[in-house]
Amino acid sequence: RGKRAFIAGVSDDNGYGWAIAKSLAAAGAEILVGTWVPTLNIFESSLRRGKFDESRKLPDGSLMEITKVYPLDAVYDNPEDVPEDVKANKRYSGSSNWTVQEVVEAVKQDFGSLDILVHSLANGPEVSKPLLETSRNGYLAAVSASSYSFVSLLKHFVPIMNPGGASISLTYIASERIIPGYGGGMSSAKAALESDTRVLAFEAGRKHKVRVNTISAGPLRSRAAKAIGFIDMMIDYSSANAPLQKELSAEEVGNAAAFLASPLASAITGAVVYVDNGLNAMGVGV
Ligand code: NAI
Repeated sequence: RGKRAFIAGVSDDNGYGWAIAKSLAAAGAEILVGTWVPTLNIFESSLRRGKFDESRKLPDGSLMEITKVYPLDAVYDNPEDVPEDVKANKRYSGSSNWTVQEVVEAVKQDFGSLDILVHSLANGPEVSKPLLETSRNGYLAAVSASSYSFVSLLKHFVPIMNPGGASISLTYIASERIIPGYGGGMSSAKAALESDTRVLAFEAGRKHKVRVNTISAGPLRSRAAKAIGFIDMMIDYSSANAPLQKELSAEEVGNAAAFLASPLASAITGAVVYVDNGLNAMGVGV
């Protein structure tokens, strides 16, 4: 049987989540995605209308099949956590069962088990503010959406993950080096995500034989990155200064994720793997 993968954080065909889904599909995995509730309609209708068909193309010429799209809001663990105003919000009231616990329950009912969990989502409402000007709420929202969301997804999915399974998240070097502009507590959230990768690798490894790794990716012009506002500058900086002077493609990150999720990486867990044209290794720009 092929592996079954759930990729949380796919809302269009521009981001890392989409590229990871494609690389996993090309390697023979069955693809389930979790799509943020407010973006569900546009994603599903674009998919249905064939808007993504060009980017669904796999190396063998076939089109990636997404077996099922689940609405998801990873900042809520169960229905009791959802505030009334969100429940009443039109964009949310149109779908149901989108808290983490309910999504995992649905996947369990639909398919029984999972092999690969991918977390490709982040959100920081105050990302454009320096940390010194970030509010407590903004900081906690960044950590909730970008770090605890992974803890919660793994916590709920791991009981139905097959031994030998793997999980992967996406992080950014702003966790360990100063990247001015990556504010609002997002740098803190990525530091938490990387630390949690180690602790969860131990816990999920001992208890469930599941591996936990994170990819520290270089800059990509995704929807989320464009919202931060400095993405073109970061891409230019990387092209100018990295050991490999080419633009990073989402596919390169997708392929690294497929490797990490595969038995080829059976001894790799608790790792931060750089997929960034080597930029992390530079001490000064030249
Ligand atoms: P993206 O916009 O394709 O992906 C972010 C996704 O998160 C979107 O689909 C959005 O709908 C979803 N999302 C936001 N809040 C959510 C919530 N509460 N529940 C469920 N889904 C939610 O952008 P990108 O850049 O591909 O981001 C994927 C991951 O890659 C993120 O963790 C990001 O921090 C990371 N990354 C991105 C880099 C870049 O330059 N684009 C560099 C390094 C890491």
